[in-house]
Amino acid sequence: MITVPRAVSAPFLQHDPGGFRIESVTAADVAAGLGTPCYVYSAGAVRDAYHRLDAAFGDHPHAIHYALKANSTLAIVRLLRSLGSRVDANSMGEVDVALRCGFAPREIVFTGVGKSAAELARAVTLDVHAINVESPGELERLDQLATAHGVTARVALRVNPDIDAQSHPHISTGLRDNKFGVPIALARSLVGDMARRRGLVPVGIHVHIGSQITLLDPLARAAEAAATLARELLSDGVPLEQLDFGGGLGISYDGAPVPGAGAYVRALVAAAAGSPLALAIEPGRSIVGPAGVLLTTVVDVKQLPGGRRFVVLDAGMTELMRPALYGAFHRIEPARPRAGAAEPADVVGPICESTDRFARDLALAPLEVGDLVVVRDVGAYGAVLGSTYLRRPLPPEALVDGDRWTTIRRRQTLDDLLSLEA
Ligand SMILES: Cc1ncc(COP(=O)(O)O)c(C=O)c1O
Repeated sequence: MITVPRAVSAPFLQHDPGGFRIESVTAADVAAGLGTPCYVYSAGAVRDAYHRLDAAFGDHPHAIHYALKANSTLAIVRLLRSLGSRVDANSMGEVDVALRCGFAPREIVFTGVGKSAAELARAVTLDVHAINVESPGELERLDQLATAHGVTARVALRVNPDIDAQSHPHISTGLRDNKFGVPIALARSLVGDMARRRGLVPVGIHVHIGSQITLLDPLARAAEAAATLARELLSDGVPLEQLDFGGGLGISYDGAPVPGAGAYVRALVAAAAGSPLALAIEPGRSIVGPAGVLLTTVVDVKQLPGGRRFVVLDAGMTELMRPALYGAFHRIEPARPRAGAAEPADVVGPICESTDRFARDLALAPLEVGDLVVVRDVGAYGAVLGSTYLRRPLPPEALVDGDRWTTIRRRQTLDDLLSLEA
């Protein structure tokens, strides 16, 4: 049976005698207003996480490009903008979300392993801060596009340092066998070539070895490799502007200690020691992950004779894909625990797939049909990965700030869903 510590990382989301709270608002209040399943985020937790990262850099020139892929709901993106963040966009859809939220093109870095010709053309004409380039072929295409448009494209080369992030293999990106980036051994000559192209301005080196990384060593080694390369390029006379160390800092899903923002940033700054370049990072999960919960209601409790106990929720893999996609663990707690000893339970969703399971053998306080349940740490890669499988409309999202909460995305209706169809 899996027993998980109750400890919480921040004062923004926690239990008190009135039930689970997001800042000063009870989970029960939001669930009563929005229905379940629904996502709820704490603005205070987002601000706190952002400020910790930002403050850790001290006077060191830096830029935080929030990774939109983690959560690109407009209100969250606007909140990050109000804090001084810039953005990392992984698709043209995300670039447009950033623009609609008021970001200037020069505040956007554009990343992606397979950018289409149309996406590259748009990024070039927008003149984004940097296009993180993934291959020699992409460099060639960008040069041609920029020259044809009579402009220059600001490019950073994404290098693959062949470093094991020691995260889940599905979210590791920095090994030689992964599809991401250019082998670091080829980078020096490639950037030299870039610098000679009419359509390209090399502005930086980019490295991102994966997500949910809870060891500083691989992150520091990747940063050191990129910094060493940048030093060589500067000595070759290539006038780079920045080192972009990507995202990847993990969070604690199970209460076990993980490195904090301070230790992470200190490791990156040490890795870049002596470099005159500004540092950029692209954090997603560490900023919004712990700030969100999924509220869901128990729709059935099924005790097999002499066997497993299934707690069936009204949320499943359509609302929160992470457990089905990579066996991700999330703390799951009754919003208002009933008296009684915890018993093992399989916590499952209502979808007709056996992989639709949030937890197996989890120690769970007694629960009855109709009880409200909180799934923790879903602010990143939660709502954004939602699907409408089984014609299940996407759930609503709410943002709590102090004692106020607002709906930042309404529940999708079946009419919304069908409106695209003939
Ligand atoms: C290029 C890039 N930058 C930044 C991120 C954000 O990573 P994380 O949410 O782990 O901080 C990702 C996600 O894997 C990514 O692919």
